[in-house]
Amino acid sequence: MTARIEGAGRLRGVLAVPSDKSISHRAAMFASIAKGKSTVRNLLLAADTISTLNAMKLLGAEMQGFGKPINVPGFGQYYENYEISGCGLHGLKAPGKEIDCGNSGTTMRLLTGLLAGNPFRTVLTGDESLSKRPMARVIRPLSLMGAKIKATVDEKYPPLEIEGGPLKAIEYDMPVASAQVKSALILAGLYANGKTVIKEPHPSRDHTEKMLPAMGARLKSENNQITVEGPAAELAAFDITVPGDFSSAAFFLVGALITENSEAHINNVCLNPTRTGLLTVLAAMGARIEVESRREVSGEPVGDIHVKGARKLKAVDVDENLVPLMIDELPILAIACACAEGRSVIRGASELRVKESDRIKAMASGLNAMGIEVEEFEDGLAITGGELKAARIHSFGDHRIAMSFAIAALAARGVTEIEGSECVSISYPAFFDTLTGLRFNG
Ligand code: S3P
Repeated sequence: MTARIEGAGRLRGVLAVPSDKSISHRAAMFASIAKGKSTVRNLLLAADTISTLNAMKLLGAEMQGFGKPINVPGFGQYYENYEISGCGLHGLKAPGKEIDCGNSGTTMRLLTGLLAGNPFRTVLTGDESLSKRPMARVIRPLSLMGAKIKATVDEKYPPLEIEGGPLKAIEYDMPVASAQVKSALILAGLYANGKTVIKEPHPSRDHTEKMLPAMGARLKSENNQITVEGPAAELAAFDITVPGDFSSAAFFLVGALITENSEAHINNVCLNPTRTGLLTVLAAMGARIEVESRREVSGEPVGDIHVKGARKLKAVDVDENLVPLMIDELPILAIACACAEGRSVIRGASELRVKESDRIKAMASGLNAMGIEVEEFEDGLAITGGELKAARIHSFGDHRIAMSFAIAALAARGVTEIEGSECVSISYPAFFDTLTGLRFNG
């Protein structure tokens, strides 16, 4: 599908964004290994999290939807809330067929860690993009724990064959900050004998470290070091309400900032500090963003974000330490940089090359097409702000690239076309409807 977005648009209104993707994956997965019934309210209903729901059903969890029925285009009818009957830590069963993780790296990597300690064979597959994403980063440390995992393509890429069995605890220094790798090792650590110690070079999102101890896991996290004591006793079922996803809010946040006279109020956004590096960077660029009604929801900090687009943004040299705290927001930050005065530099972000697409290449090529001067580095981009012009943009099948350029289109003159725009369904199926509802051309 090709989306056509008229330029010279502004955004005005109040919106709620979809529920947090990372928390939703974890809620569905962890409830499935808990003992008893958990309640997950406001689960994200998008392609990625549906992959996790289907995987956990195949592994034996029972899920009962309740509340508002929601039709997810291409996937059928789901419900806003789920009651999940967990199998207990040792009750998952062999799935009987391959598990398709779709486009979801989180599903595949976290499941690899979880299944490494479960005594049956599983094969995990994925779509074309996931089949090119590096899996050695989870296989290597899990193998040190004694796991038997084979990446069937070039010994690095999916499908993955996992033959679950006994695991031993290890101490592991992670070469890159990655919440997916960290979470895979934590899940394996629940099944291992002894203390698994994981050291991260920089903090990354910490939802796993918050959720598992609340279920009774013996897990400590301090100074970028996580210790899990295994083998874990049964984990308690839980009730969780998933807040809105900051990564989805980021598109409309930047959309309001780069278009004159815009004003948006985004309700109920998760503001976990391991996710909100973008707020720090946008503030340094001169953005006026206010957070109101700060509160806690299911152990996560939440607030409402108010943003006004008035001043011209200034270029920024992004502090590399902030990169893991805004890893999924770098594409939309690149759009903010394209609209700022001066040359912005984003470095230390080579992880972007191995996301749902090569996001450095995808951003450089889209911004070039829109008339922006971009220098591409192995680990980032330098972007000189200027006038955006409408163009035909390749999304590379990557949801965050498609949404970033749909926002950029608002600041351009003319009609921008985004090829493969249906990929927004990975994390934000209603993205284009929300965009249409908020835009005005005044
Ligand atoms: C995620 C972690 C990040 C992020 C992804 C979701 C998670 O990946 O890019 O969208 O839920 O743990 P890495 O951990 O590989 O950086």
